[in-house]
Amino acid sequence: MRIDIITIFPEMFEGPFSHSIIKRAQEKGLAEIHLHQLRDFTNDKHRKVDDYAFSGGAGMVMMIEPVARAIEHLQEQRHYDEVIYTSPDGELLDQPMANRLSTLENIIILCGHYKGIDERIREHLITREISIGNYVLSGGELAAAVITDAVVRLIPGVLGNEVSALTDSFQNNLVSPPVYTRPRDFRGWKVPDILLSGNEKRIEEWKFEQSVERTKKRRPGLLKNEEQ
Ligand code: ADE
Repeated sequence: MRIDIITIFPEMFEGPFSHSIIKRAQEKGLAEIHLHQLRDFTNDKHRKVDDYAFSGGAGMVMMIEPVARAIEHLQEQRHYDEVIYTSPDGELLDQPMANRLSTLENIIILCGHYKGIDERIREHLITREISIGNYVLSGGELAAAVITDAVVRLIPGVLGNEVSALTDSFQNNLVSPPVYTRPRDFRGWKVPDILLSGNEKRIEEWKFEQSVERTKKRRPGLLKNEEQ
């Protein structure tokens, strides 16, 4: 899978993409992540990519020309399945959406900034708008990093253990059961006996019950499919 990110702060991605699973996915050739400086696509001598909004009001608006040029420059080279814009008023990212995105070949993520982008970009060039939660970030870069992380780890072969992505919280609308490691007893805080029993079938049943109980208690909306 190839992900092209258009941003005015490419350096913000250096940390998140150069560690752990996302780093390994790139090294294995399973994910290609390309960062593009939006300012490289402006003809303005000051490399300006924002301007005042018509009708006034507070805040600057991302200009149409550099964004259109950046997106179209990429689209001239290959087909993109989605051109995503990160925005607090987009569709909320959830696990089913991450699953679907992970099956795509090429996607563009445009990081929003300032007061937003010229609406005509959303109308004509963007195919999907995604929010990572009901709060406002200072820019779309962290959202783009979150989307990329959630998606890349699902690409087959990225996680060492193939089943582990399928047993994540939220797959099947359930949160994960509790997990334990050594020691069996820490200050009298004990690992549940069942996990030490060696009875695989009963352990699987226990884990499922725990998942259901936890979901009821912590995230009941998931069971009713209410959570967005
Ligand atoms: N940009 C600012 N806030 C955001 C959010 N919650 N999700 C995605 N992009 C954003």
